[in-house]
Amino acid sequence: MKLNVEMRKIEYGTEDYEVSIDIRNECFRKPWGMDIRDEDLSGDKDMDMYGAYLDGKMIATVFLTQDDEETARVKSVAILEEYRGYGLGRYLMDFIEDKAREKGYKRVNLMGRVWVEGFYHKLGYKTISEPYDYHTIPHIDMTKEL
Ligand SMILES: CC(C)(COP(=O)(O)OP(=O)(O)OC[C@H]1O[C@@H](n2cnc3c(N)ncnc32)[C@H](O)[C@@H]1OP(=O)(O)O)[C@@H](O)C(=O)NCCC(=O)NCCS
Repeated sequence: MKLNVEMRKIEYGTEDYEVSIDIRNECFRKPWGMDIRDEDLSGDKDMDMYGAYLDGKMIATVFLTQDDEETARVKSVAILEEYRGYGLGRYLMDFIEDKAREKGYKRVNLMGRVWVEGFYHKLGYKTISEPYDYHTIPHIDMTKEL
């Protein structure tokens, strides 16, 4: 990977947590004229949240939560635009899949935007739904056995 990032856990309600909201807003809402702070984000307190830091600045996020005892769910895979294309996406997914394995999960589910389906296919994810709209944006459900 071409970026020398350090992964750190993000605690709910901290300054770093606020930065993680900004990153998700930039990646998932603002380009479509929406603001993630208009949404109920209280579910974040039950997630394992991680930030990728470059020279002390958070540049990406990845979250882990649970679907059921055997199945984890990856959320909020978001990289600020200028840091995309350097292998960080793959690195974040390897990192979070390792966390899921450590916790004893057998598979990982996620909801992907249709235009990043190819990225997740490269990492071994299978598409398991037809496209559907979420916040007006086409998504698909994907899964991977760990
Ligand atoms: C999608 C995203 C996480 C990819 O991260 P990235 O750091 O740019 O990806 P990487 O550099 O690790 O790419 C890994 C591989 O996937 C490929 N890839 C990356 N984006 C892709 C895409 N949209 N479609 C198909 N392949 C893609 C790369 O070419 C690379 O292939 P290679 O290993 O053969 O060279 C990043 O672009 C992002 O945060 N986008 C905005 C937010 C978003 O849409 N997140 C996903 C929501 S479901």
